[in-house]
Amino acid sequence: MSKLKDTKIDLQRRAVVAGAVAASSQLFSPLAAFASSKSMDIDRFVADCIAANKETDAQVAVNEVLARAVSTPGAVLAALGEPDKAGLNVLLRSPSLTIFAATWTPQMNLMPHDHLMWANIGIYTGREDNIFWKRTPEGIEAYGADALFVKDTAMLPEDALHSVTNPLQRFTGGIHVYGGDFFDTTRSQWDPETLEEEPSDGARIRRMFQRENERLGLTKET
Ligand SMILES: [Fe+2]
Repeated sequence: MSKLKDTKIDLQRRAVVAGAVAASSQLFSPLAAFASSKSMDIDRFVADCIAANKETDAQVAVNEVLARAVSTPGAVLAALGEPDKAGLNVLLRSPSLTIFAATWTPQMNLMPHDHLMWANIGIYTGREDNIFWKRTPEGIEAYGADALFVKDTAMLPEDALHSVTNPLQRFTGGIHVYGGDFFDTTRSQWDPETLEEEPSDGARIRRMFQRENERLGLTKET
């Protein structure tokens, strides 16, 4: 019925990532940014994602770049810093690609939402639990879950709906890459208790992160 029935969330584990890194090494060279430096070269990472986004299967190609980045989480932390608040650190915003580091406060939750574009997530510190949802005639319904640990990546298709939790008592950080302008797309989110659908966009998500910081007394700029 719905194409959501065919929604497939691809989760790439360390072994798969290792293979992807090897396979992609010829496509996105040089690897110097990650291999020989203790700090990730953010400009190189963004440039590699832009190049990968021009491949035939852009999402897979971008995920290979992302997997390579989070395979050295220490280098990502050295470049982006240890998270100390909820926030979205935007590394690139363009009509065809958005890249940001999302940091979650301990045990932070984000209600079910869609993206209306493909999304790749790579974890560089902490853990991010995803519940996957699908639309039904009565509303949305949870149908799957997965826990993403450090070095894991996930590829969510355009029609994916998910809610996100940081189950840890410490901060989680992930690099999120979207196949479009995440901040200029009107999407949907669902009330976590009633599952009522509401409009959402990048500004609303930003405000949620700010409120989370206020709730915890973390008042730095996000
Ligand atoms: Fe999301």
